[in-house]
Amino acid sequence: MVHAPGVRVPLPEAEATRRALLDAGRMRLDLKPLREPGALVFPVEAVGADTDDFDFEPRARRVRHYTELLDWPPEMLAQAPRAFDQMGDLVVLKVPEPLWDHRHVLGQAILDFLPGARAVFHDHGVQGEFRTRKLEPLAGDEDPETTVTENGVRLRVDVTRAYFSPRLGDERARVTESARPGERVIDLFGGVAPLGVQLARKGVEVVSIDLNPAAVVLARLNAALNRVPLEALHGDARAVAAGLAPADRVVMNLPHGAKHFLDVAAAATKPGGTVHYHEILPDAELERRTRELVDAFADLGRRATVTNVRHVRAYSPVEGHYALDLLLEDP
Ligand SMILES: C[S@@+](CC[C@H](N)C(=O)[O-])C[C@H]1O[C@@H](n2cnc3c(N)ncnc32)[C@H](O)[C@@H]1O
Repeated sequence: MVHAPGVRVPLPEAEATRRALLDAGRMRLDLKPLREPGALVFPVEAVGADTDDFDFEPRARRVRHYTELLDWPPEMLAQAPRAFDQMGDLVVLKVPEPLWDHRHVLGQAILDFLPGARAVFHDHGVQGEFRTRKLEPLAGDEDPETTVTENGVRLRVDVTRAYFSPRLGDERARVTESARPGERVIDLFGGVAPLGVQLARKGVEVVSIDLNPAAVVLARLNAALNRVPLEALHGDARAVAAGLAPADRVVMNLPHGAKHFLDVAAAATKPGGTVHYHEILPDAELERRTRELVDAFADLGRRATVTNVRHVRAYSPVEGHYALDLLLEDP
């Protein structure tokens, strides 16, 4: 029971009083109104000329969305993000511009809503060739490092130091599913090795390359965390791959820049091997781009067959992140 001020009204006036208290913002919604013979007592926020003290039962209210915790007018609630990314015990979202001055209240509501959440950050976006994110703390602590569980592996990630996106988990599961134990894979832009670790756990031999030294440190840490062998090499994919024997699969998850490394992939893939190519492109250009890729590999002396095309996620209303699998043979 909660001891709190309440307004007692005869039953015939109960509905009108309930509305008036709600309109005035006086009603306490976390407590149940009290039934008395011929009267109802509404719990209210503060003592007033019309209140007495009562014992109320707390309402067992199930909050289904964090916005229910925001005491905002409908026009502000309509702007509140419906979805956000969860990474381990962190939440990352983009606060819309009109709600910027209320970002900490928004963050706190999400933190209160999600059991197990430790901190909420605003995402200022991906930057630079390392594809790291600038995060601004909104609620909770300010540590951006966390542990993510994905497809059965644990990954240490810090998106402010090295790229990671939980939105690519399905694509990693798909590639891992298609690989066979004993194969050799070169991940040209391996990041913190989320795919590499998943492949290695399946018995695939993995070389993961990244230009960002922090990504390589986390990739090695993630291999150790999951007790899998994985060779994480620091450097530019072009220079590092030149010293490697060709592999059964080459992964090219650098969606804005993989097109500049087709010659590297052509040289690094065995006959009968597969290139997992990623590109962000206008949806309307997918077919043309697919033909261009096959032609580009032909110019590099490899016969390419597209065996799968996957829309990984929407990038904008007219652009998508696509993954194309290309089987490479010698001509
Ligand atoms: C989009 S992220 C993908 C990371 C990882 N494959 C994943 O899915 O999490 C691209 C990665 O490529 C790395 N990178 C950018 N240019 C590179 C280059 N020339 N050689 C090697 N790595 C590079 C970046 O540091 C970044 O970690």
